[in-house]
Amino acid sequence: MKKIKGTKIFNTNELKAAARLLNNNQLVAFPTETVYGLGANAYSKEAVQKIFRAKKRPADNPLIIHLAQKKEVNQIISGKLDKRAKKLISEFWPGPLTLILPKNNKIPEIATGGLDTVAVRIPDHTLARQLISLTGLPIAAPSANLSGRPSPTMAKHVIDDLAGRIEGIVEGEQTLIGLESTVLDLSQEEPVLLRPGAITYEQLIDTIGEIKVDDNIGLKVNQSGQKALAPGMKYRHYSPLAEVILVEGDKSRIPTMINQLIKDSGTNNLGVMCTKENKDLYKDVEVKVMGSREDLIGIGNNIFRLLREFDEGGVDLIYIEGLRKKGIGLAIMNRLRKAAGNQIVEV
Ligand code: TXA
Ligand code: MG
Repeated sequence: MKKIKGTKIFNTNELKAAARLLNNNQLVAFPTETVYGLGANAYSKEAVQKIFRAKKRPADNPLIIHLAQKKEVNQIISGKLDKRAKKLISEFWPGPLTLILPKNNKIPEIATGGLDTVAVRIPDHTLARQLISLTGLPIAAPSANLSGRPSPTMAKHVIDDLAGRIEGIVEGEQTLIGLESTVLDLSQEEPVLLRPGAITYEQLIDTIGEIKVDDNIGLKVNQSGQKALAPGMKYRHYSPLAEVILVEGDKSRIPTMINQLIKDSGTNNLGVMCTKENKDLYKDVEVKVMGSREDLIGIGNNIFRLLREFDEGGVDLIYIEGLRKKGIGLAIMNRLRKAAGNQIVEV
């Protein structure tokens, strides 16, 4: 075990020591299949309070509770799982699907931002489940970044944001998915998709039928052939320090538009985040390749890392090529729109 700014960095053979910190109501970040999470004992007000402080997270933004086994869900919800929940759990857990369910009194209100519902998921990541099992506790874990920064897909990102602010970090591999879990609200009659992720809108509909899409996602998905609506997103998120402009619409016109914007921008400290197919179309700017337009899964796993890398290069302004909003593309475009804080150019 080494230390960086007082934070203990555990390797994957040191899970017991990491679990001990969690049992002592201290904070430990760990990898999951989606992004790194910042864990704390979900039953302890004091431990959960530390998460909000370390991340500088607004107190009204509730946390996801992570479990190691399906049967543990009954320890934190009130009432019984309904048919829809049972179907989704048998289909997608362990995995990148978070369900919002009515909560019981064992989970303190501070963990749920005062709501009477609780978000819960089981990560599809052996090491994460082992760590949770060792504690014997439900573990509250938001993404392990400073609030507003891109979510961490590598231990390095967690160290950059949180070393010196938390007690421990389990240093695992780069995450497999690189986008946070799909969040589905099942606490009411009508299921509502609150955050798109690797478990897609289409997969959810195939499993439980119609679901509503929350306006905050900023992307209308159930009407075909129409332009994206003006997003109703309230704040900038997943953001690098640089300004971000997302150019979306007809993919054959995107590069021309970005080159025009580059010309008109009046600065020369620019970055472009583009698809592999278009990488040679941009000159005299820092180009970062998200991946092939044909491989959205690969792209999903790169975007947060690339946004952070742009910051290290110190560019002032980043143009990003938009992608299709089908399948995991919906989740990617949701994150890119938030990173752009609403600065979207349609072509
Ligand atoms: O993949 C993930 O979900 C990662 C890994 C670590 O598991 N975690 C994560 O947590 O992304 P976080 O805190 O960054 O995002 C949790 C999201 C937030 O948008 C929050 O508002 C929503 O889930 N959420 C949590 N509890 C909720 C509740 N009771 N009702 C509605 N939304 C809730
Ligand atoms: Mg987050």
